[in-house]
Amino acid sequence: PRVMVLFGGRSGEHAISCATAGGVLRAIDRDRYDVLAVGITRRGEWVLADDDPDRWAIRDGHLPEVEDTATRVLLPQGTAERDVQVLHEGQLGAPLGAVDVVFPLLHGPFGEDGTLQGMLELADVRYVGSGVLASAVGMDKHMMKLVLAGSGLRVGAFRVVPAGPAPDPAVLDTIVADLGLPLFVKPARAGSSLGITRVADAADLPAAIAAAREHDPKVVVEAAVVGREVECGVLGGRGGAAPRASLPGEIVVAEASHTFYDFAAKYLDQTGVTLACPADLPADVVARVQDAAVRAFEAVGCEGIARVDVFVTDDGEVVVNEINTMPGFTPYSMYPRMWQASGVDYPELVDELLALALE
Ligand code: DAL
Ligand code: MG
Repeated sequence: PRVMVLFGGRSGEHAISCATAGGVLRAIDRDRYDVLAVGITRRGEWVLADDDPDRWAIRDGHLPEVEDTATRVLLPQGTAERDVQVLHEGQLGAPLGAVDVVFPLLHGPFGEDGTLQGMLELADVRYVGSGVLASAVGMDKHMMKLVLAGSGLRVGAFRVVPAGPAPDPAVLDTIVADLGLPLFVKPARAGSSLGITRVADAADLPAAIAAAREHDPKVVVEAAVVGREVECGVLGGRGGAAPRASLPGEIVVAEASHTFYDFAAKYLDQTGVTLACPADLPADVVARVQDAAVRAFEAVGCEGIARVDVFVTDDGEVVVNEINTMPGFTPYSMYPRMWQASGVDYPELVDELLALALE
């Protein structure tokens, strides 16, 4: 089958999406799949891209970026029967041929949030991963928490600061009184910890909200949850397949250099962070994490793939922090590692995701 590996995009996670694509381009079995690499520039142009995985690595703190190759890739309606077109400098170029499935390795808004999924639905093209609604719910931390809590899962206490003028100081005082300190201030729709601030002093809350608003006018303020930071991969769920959970992994933030698992700790300077995979947890806690992960996947209505991030409290309770409908596949990412530890290696994982989408 012909796979369009699609990455980059207009979100703040552009570079992480490129690194994810590098991981998948390296792992995908080229004897089985004909790969068409298509990048989306930061401005939103779809261009033919290099399919060499090395081009998309994060190296020595240098973040990869899709450059405008002066091509324009057009996805006609019903691509399964019709050729993908490429434009070269305004001229209609030779058709590239048909694409059987799109692997949208996009993180963040305009990719992971249902917008791209809606476009692919309209174009009648198959794609890997969740559909429109699950993608949109998974992207918006406010809606996500409502859906998870409404399904009976435990989530941490939070408040929403809606889009609009800077909130009244009295509102902020109430938030601090209700949630305590420290707080985590997050853009509702972003990823990779972009725009997130840990607030230990109430006086810093307005600045943290302003920082989050650089990514999204809607802001979510979360109470800190005391517990171990654990993640769990979920795979499957299309057609008749029941979704299944991987062994969990744990984020261990060891040093004072990063106060939480922020963007730098994730991708630029991993010295303070260890990914323990599988996590060293008692069997009953593993089972509870896996159960919560599958329930979260089903509550949001995910398909194919998701990573569910939780806290395990001192008394072994599982509090769901969030679900990611297109988790990172970079060399620093937990999702492929958790499946590796669960007996599904990277090429098999890619193969299963594509098979689910083609089913
Ligand atoms: N948003 C990043 C890519 C993740 O969840 O892995
Ligand atoms: Mg996320």
